[in-house]
Amino acid sequence: MAKVTIVGAGNVGATAAHIIASKNLADVVLVDVAEGLPQGKALDLMHMRSVEKFTVKVTGTNDYAATADSDVVVITAGIARKPGMTREDLLGVNAGIMRSVIAQAQEASPNAIYICVTNPLDVMTTLAQRESGIPTQKLMGMGGVLDSSRLAYAVCEELGCAPEEVEAWALGAHGEGMVCWPRFTKVNGTPITELMDEEAIEKAIKRCVKGGAEVVSFLKTGSAYYAPGASIAKMVEAILTDSHELMSVCAHIDGQYGIDDLYMNIPARLGKNGVEEIVEFPLNEEELKALQVSAESVRNGLKNLETL
Ligand code: APR
Repeated sequence: MAKVTIVGAGNVGATAAHIIASKNLADVVLVDVAEGLPQGKALDLMHMRSVEKFTVKVTGTNDYAATADSDVVVITAGIARKPGMTREDLLGVNAGIMRSVIAQAQEASPNAIYICVTNPLDVMTTLAQRESGIPTQKLMGMGGVLDSSRLAYAVCEELGCAPEEVEAWALGAHGEGMVCWPRFTKVNGTPITELMDEEAIEKAIKRCVKGGAEVVSFLKTGSAYYAPGASIAKMVEAILTDSHELMSVCAHIDGQYGIDDLYMNIPARLGKNGVEEIVEFPLNEEELKALQVSAESVRNGLKNLETL
């Protein structure tokens, strides 16, 4: 049985564990610094095995020894946003947490595929790779699946269509600098540019970009976790089944789209080796420019990393 470690047994980590277990994808090890938290959540999840009829095991620990030789390691450890905070406000605290987590996780699972989730996502993913030296193909971030799913939801709401009919693309920075691709966002293969007027498309994009902040403003005590948890599970499934499914992944870009040496959401195929391929969509000049502007916003965020 495959083994997935999730570091951070908080809202996002535990929700991902729940979905991965419910889909019977892999044994899950939850790790956290808080004593009792991963153990308690793991036991609670095991108590639902007979109800949901999954056979994988979920365990909780404060010790990385139990995570040894994981196939996939997901890092959700860190603090989450509160109302009024941007993802960038989390940088100082979460950078320290990421440094400590990646070192311990890598020692236990040197060959794993790594998925970073901690915000600010693009910066934390870059930091994890730089600190660990893990090959870029094997280390990525989760942001684009979530953003694209939020766009798909907005399109469904606008057009009254079913989720399975929609293919949506949100890319670039996982934050205000995000870009959406309406020409490639399709309902049953028809671009939304042919189904919605400009105003409706703008509205859907705004709902997507502001989706995370909207959840934070309702919750007040933290940020989203159901959709992030499901997005993590989707990436884990693609890796473990070597599906090569194409999705928006915070992957290391090496020249594609005229962008060099940068982690940012981009269309990528996931498989057993991690990021199997970055796929170049036939963008027009305007779309390409917008993606490159988004890349600049990520580079600006990375400058803050140098000041820590
Ligand atoms: N090692 C392991 N776990 C840690 C560490 C550490 N060094 N530091 C903090 N944690 C744990 C906390 O104890 C907590 O249980 O990380 C968990 C975070 O959980 P929540 O506070 O519930 O936050 P969550 O909503 O899960 O978000 C986690 O994901 O989406 C991002 O912006 C979000 O950066 C945030 C992260």
